[in-house]
Amino acid sequence: MKKDRRNFLKNTALTALAIGASPILAKTNTRIDTTKKDTENNCNALTEDYYGEGPFYTANAPIVNNGQIAPNGELGTRLIITGIVKTLDCEEIIPDTELDVWQANDAAEYDNSGFHLRGKVLSNSAGFYSFETILPGKYLNGSQYRPRHIHLKITPPGYPTLTTQLYFEGDTSIPTDAAASIDSGEFDATHRTIPLENNGGVLEGTWDISIDGDGTLGTNNLHLTNGIIYDVSPNPFSDELHINYGVYKPSNIKIEIYDMLGQLVARIGEKQLNPEKYTVIWKPQTSLPSGTYFCVLKINALQVHYKKIIKK
Ligand SMILES: [Fe+2]
Repeated sequence: MKKDRRNFLKNTALTALAIGASPILAKTNTRIDTTKKDTENNCNALTEDYYGEGPFYTANAPIVNNGQIAPNGELGTRLIITGIVKTLDCEEIIPDTELDVWQANDAAEYDNSGFHLRGKVLSNSAGFYSFETILPGKYLNGSQYRPRHIHLKITPPGYPTLTTQLYFEGDTSIPTDAAASIDSGEFDATHRTIPLENNGGVLEGTWDISIDGDGTLGTNNLHLTNGIIYDVSPNPFSDELHINYGVYKPSNIKIEIYDMLGQLVARIGEKQLNPEKYTVIWKPQTSLPSGTYFCVLKINALQVHYKKIIKK
């Protein structure tokens, strides 16, 4: 019974992913090899951008500890990008990876004399990163507009830098852009083109990065076989947060909340649980600052799944 449900969950998740990635494949292959699809659909190595660094990079941008690339009051639509940095096989997370971010402002101009809308953020000890900025404007490249994009140089500790760009789904300039329209091969931009969700006027996107580097144990693919956070609500939250999660086999369970710097904010129970669905309610201290946090499910000390949460 439990095993059936586990397989159902696994197949449902994988089918959804397969459909998202390739509708034709999903129709013609009725039997899915779960082990192969798991890797193919969840773990796409980060690619370089066809345009490389471009003409507007400035070295030695400052590290922004709070992840705030755009200062408060910056003209434009607020944008928060969050994700986790993982090894190439997505089996381990990579802490302390440097993301050197630069972008145009709302009027599509770069600051080429200073470090406005430029900065470095690091993935924290749990592999998470997050930065807050504004949606970059579109600028002309010849006779055509380039799609909105954020430039990044991504460097895991002790490994080479990968230079790339991040794009946003639905951007009408993508099909005519020489770099953003590439959908296969070494400059494939499809896994660097992410959906954005409007959350009370703030756009939010999730972008997980898989790159060559030395990892530490912990992954977000383990949720297919160990346990999962189904949802967290309300999100954004203020007084309390309901965390719905499931466990697939008898395990030691911890639910933990981390801030953007990777510091443990709260541990919500630690117990031995049997396979079942559970709900726990977290009531944060009123002094908890507003901002981005991560709700993490740990099973037998492994970090198996997470959700980004926002405190109002
Ligand atoms: Fe650019």
